Amino acid sequence: MGREMASAFARWCALTDVSVQPRLLAVADLNPATLEWFKVIPTATQLTTDYRALLANPEVEVVYVAVPHNLHEKLYCDVLAAGKDLFAEKPFGIDLASARRIFDAVKKSGRFVRCSSEMPFFPGGQRAFAVARSGQIGRVLEVVSGFHHSSDLDAGKPANWKRLSAICGEIGVLGDLGMHACHLPLRLGWKPKRLFAQLQKGYPQRPDGKGGQTACDTWDNASVHTWVDINGAETPLRLEMKRMAPGETNTWFIEVLGTEGGVRYSTAEPKTLWLFERGKEQFWKRTDLGFATPFKTVTGGIFEPGFPDVIQQMWAAYLVERAGKLEGRFGCATPEEAVASHEIFAAALESQRHGKVVVLG
Ligand SMILES: NC(=O)c1ccc[n+]([C@@H]2O[C@H](COP(=O)([O-])OP(=O)(O)OC[C@H]3O[C@@H](n4cnc5c(N)ncnc54)[C@H](O)[C@@H]3O)[C@@H](O)[C@H]2O)c1
Repeated sequence: MGREMASAFARWCALTDVSVQPRLLAVADLNPATLEWFKVIPTATQLTTDYRALLANPEVEVVYVAVPHNLHEKLYCDVLAAGKDLFAEKPFGIDLASARRIFDAVKKSGRFVRCSSEMPFFPGGQRAFAVARSGQIGRVLEVVSGFHHSSDLDAGKPANWKRLSAICGEIGVLGDLGMHACHLPLRLGWKPKRLFAQLQKGYPQRPDGKGGQTACDTWDNASVHTWVDINGAETPLRLEMKRMAPGETNTWFIEVLGTEGGVRYSTAEPKTLWLFERGKEQFWKRTDLGFATPFKTVTGGIFEPGFPDVIQQMWAAYLVERAGKLEGRFGCATPEEAVASHEIFAAALESQRHGKVVVLG
């Protein structure tokens, strides 16, 4: 993810209405081979295997941290203690207790902190958000928000830290993909009041990449059936997070259905927005979206956006909001939203453990 972010800065000239200009000055990674790649970035003059050296660099103002989940709390708190602003990766700590401790450190530090969640920056995500917020779809009947991929379908794929609870967290796929699924519902004020979760594990063993096998113990798939309050009506919101979704590569989707209308968007068809209309007859209207990103770019309006574009849009939102210039545009996930997502994940684990509906505080 570090390289992905660095390349977003490298083509910052694509943005036409953003007055903030980031410069990548320093990179820390334990692996010298990973650091080697960053030599292609001329401004990145400090490449170090010790992140504390990066934090001691007085020129560094903002630190993006993308490390395994068991290291989130330590590194995030060290960034804050060094007096830097933080762009944290999800899930914002390995579990709820960790997320709450990070939240306290954020408040104490007074630093500007946001959590990574780029998918809502797709033009289709923005449109779905606007439609859901507008009230034009009448009484909301149901909401589905999710993220599917199939990276774990291949039993022969070697294990990495994401398959081990000790490093990825007991929440497993909820931590990996949950912030993506929760971001828009939480931004719309749709916070679950109670939920029932169905969690599934993947393969109990995988190749360790060294000729042997290693145990894998994380949850791979999660369907979380929640109830949210929307305009005084109790409404079902289903959150789906799957690492074993046959046929899906990296699909983020949201669907909001109401009595008068509805909206459906999936990155499986990144240009396509579906709008439901009810009259004498019922219609699903298909719109071919263009490049209507929240932050304007040199890219022509008819072209289709992709993952690197939304990563850049998310960074624009972070830096512009940090500079006090967001001006009503869509901002990155807040520490409050990140903690709220962890409350959902913790309740989902409890629901799975006891096979019961869990009430959230
Ligand atoms: N926003 C997204 O779409 C998205 C996508 C993938 C991963 N992520 C998140 O990004 C984070 C990292 O995931 P990844 O897939 O990039 O993992 P990764 O394993 O590919 O990369 C982690 C990097 O951290 C380095 N590292 C580990 N400990 C370190 C330390 N003490 N000091 C410095 N560097 C250290 C490793 O050497 C490695 O290069 C996770 O929180 C993950 O959930 C976000």
